Amino acid sequence: MMTSGEKALLFHLARDHFQGTGIIVDAGLFLGASTEAFCRGLKENGIKTKKIVHAYDIALWNSKGFDKYLQNPGVLDKIGPVDFKDGDNYQSLLEKLLEEHSDTIDFRIGDIVEQVRTNEDVEIAFYDLLKNYERDLACFNALGPHYVANRTIIVQQDYFFENAIDSKVRQEFLSPYFEFIGAIGSSGVFKCIRKIPTEFFEKDPIKKLTVDDKIKLLKQAAGRIPISKFQIYTSLAVVGLMIQSGRKEEGISELQEVEKAMKYAKLTPPRAAKIIEKLKDKLEGARLR
Ligand SMILES: C[S@@+](CC[C@H](N)C(=O)[O-])C[C@H]1O[C@@H](n2cnc3c(N)ncnc32)[C@H](O)[C@@H]1O
Repeated sequence: MMTSGEKALLFHLARDHFQGTGIIVDAGLFLGASTEAFCRGLKENGIKTKKIVHAYDIALWNSKGFDKYLQNPGVLDKIGPVDFKDGDNYQSLLEKLLEEHSDTIDFRIGDIVEQVRTNEDVEIAFYDLLKNYERDLACFNALGPHYVANRTIIVQQDYFFENAIDSKVRQEFLSPYFEFIGAIGSSGVFKCIRKIPTEFFEKDPIKKLTVDDKIKLLKQAAGRIPISKFQIYTSLAVVGLMIQSGRKEEGISELQEVEKAMKYAKLTPPRAAKIIEKLKDKLEGARLR
């Protein structure tokens, strides 16, 4: 879930960066926190163009993870008590929660792999669903050609995190075309500084990368921020990639390096400990404990 700092970033981008020459991509809105932040920013920006925010979500209810949010006073105030079962489509709830911004939002509900499209320039793109290669590639191929040099800002919410490995590899591979602006929470913020070559959209350049290339790029991602819990999570993505690629021995020594760094920095984030436990299980834990 997004932090208040991340929501403030989206608000400021919509208010101060958006010029009205293109659209805002809001990919992975869940219950609309990012959408609300963008729409509030746009209101203060004063640009009146309709349906600026292209809001993508599959919007399928997952009781275990989602039910608790229905008890949130803000949500209860707006919609009263509602009941969704696993797998129910909750588009109606999103429309209700974001009713006051209905002129601004173009809801694109469904699998983003099938839904993602635009003919317009992308001024801002917020991604909080690029958890697998298929989604990452679909968004890149559909939206990447519409990124504009010195204008488009990309916010990758899962950047300083242990998952979404493919999207981090792609973003780092694309470093010559982007400037890293900074991090907030687990989000990495990038500005497009050069048009991405069209051939990258014809044949995915990521496919050609070796495991060594990908490890190097992931380490580059982790190296973008100083040591912190988010830097640890990103370093654990490197271990995850090594495991995925069958490089257990390398995974073991990489994990030991991460644990050493944590000890040195006196960092003990409980969430990192849980991820480490899981990785150790995958790495045939007994040897490591
Ligand atoms: C981590 S949540 C987003 C959280 C949200 N940005 C927030 O902070 O409140 C990821 C979202 O991606 C959506 N999602 C997952 N797979 C999807 C897909 N294939 N197409 C579109 N949306 C998808 C989920 O429904 C979920 O709402």
